[in-house]
Amino acid sequence: MLYKLRCVKCGREYEPDPWRIRCDCGGLLEPVIVRKPTGISWTLFRSRKLGVWRYEELLPKVKGRVTMGEGGTPLIKLKENLWVKFEGANPTGSFKDRGMTVAVSLAKGSGAKSVICASTGNTSASVSAYAARAGISSIVLLPRGKVARGKLAQAILHGAKIVEVDGSFDEALKAVMRVAGKESGLYPLNSFNPWRLEGQKTIAFEIADEIGVPDWVILPIGNAGNISAIWKGFKELKRFGLADKLPRMAGVQAEGAAPIARAFREGLKEPEFVDNPETVATAIRIGRPVNWPKALAALKESDGWTEVVSDEEIVRAHRDLARAGIGVEPASAASLAGYRRMVREGIIKEGERVVLIATGHALKDPDFIPEPEVVRAKDADEAVRLVMSL
Ligand code: F0G
Repeated sequence: MLYKLRCVKCGREYEPDPWRIRCDCGGLLEPVIVRKPTGISWTLFRSRKLGVWRYEELLPKVKGRVTMGEGGTPLIKLKENLWVKFEGANPTGSFKDRGMTVAVSLAKGSGAKSVICASTGNTSASVSAYAARAGISSIVLLPRGKVARGKLAQAILHGAKIVEVDGSFDEALKAVMRVAGKESGLYPLNSFNPWRLEGQKTIAFEIADEIGVPDWVILPIGNAGNISAIWKGFKELKRFGLADKLPRMAGVQAEGAAPIARAFREGLKEPEFVDNPETVATAIRIGRPVNWPKALAALKESDGWTEVVSDEEIVRAHRDLARAGIGVEPASAASLAGYRRMVREGIIKEGERVVLIATGHALKDPDFIPEPEVVRAKDADEAVRLVMSL
């Protein structure tokens, strides 16, 4: 057996089981690889097609893969020592696909009647697409009026059953946690599902494969799954002799939804939750991040850092990335906004190598893109005159 499941709260261990999502004590579970899988090396990985399953020895065994070639995303160099990992290049336009290929494969192989999630949008887009691919139905719970248009369109397009909930993501997630499980046959695909996070750790593998382990990895924090997933990925590389160092993890949150960033900065044992989270970056508009214990552990263990950025800083970073050719959604721009603060504050030192995770594509949130300044022409002649005058 590759894995055992360990509770991060009480330490209790379980046999790996796709339906075992939480510990009996209520704590989060972490899949722990029991021993180094035989034969793994960069040479072996590189002999395979790019993507999540290139690293199959470090992932759960599944009966049949539900895959669309997710992962293998571009690592774009912005300037000396600064890269952007462009997760918008995944099949549904966000990093969530890396998790869904693993978790939906497990759901399908273990008799789930349906898959279910709460979402600020991207998870629901990914869940509905991967469920469609697997031939199982999906149910998505969304905070009413707070999901970016592109993401909602994807859920509709792929045929999810949509439940809109008044209130924030946190309220919708509460409902999922109540209703999901083996009894109902509803398989939960939020990031409290530890198997989903196994897929997301491949972000670390790809970065290390391409440029080695950087000094810093900076990413937005919402429900706080991804930061712990990526950290776990780097830790496994080091443990299995595939890397000789670890990065420092930096998490960025928006001013109106920053319970984890604040808890870390203030040295609190537990975050103070936010009842009415607010930010233009709707993907990370979350006040009660369920994975907070894993995220705080990742920040602490990696000697990490957190930043709280304003919506204005997010808007500026979003525009500047776009002007560099990289179209991301607002939450993803928080990575660059956080980086800028860290450079100003002297946290990132001269010569340190930094990777920003751009978690989702600009097309996810078309309403966030400014109105165009256009000139109009009634025919080709006028268009030509106008073009020449630009
Ligand atoms: N960036 C984007 C674009 C996201 O969609 C999310 C989370 C995050 C960052 C934060 O990642 O939750 O692992 O800390 N979106 C979830 C959703 C909540 O429902 O799509 P996290």
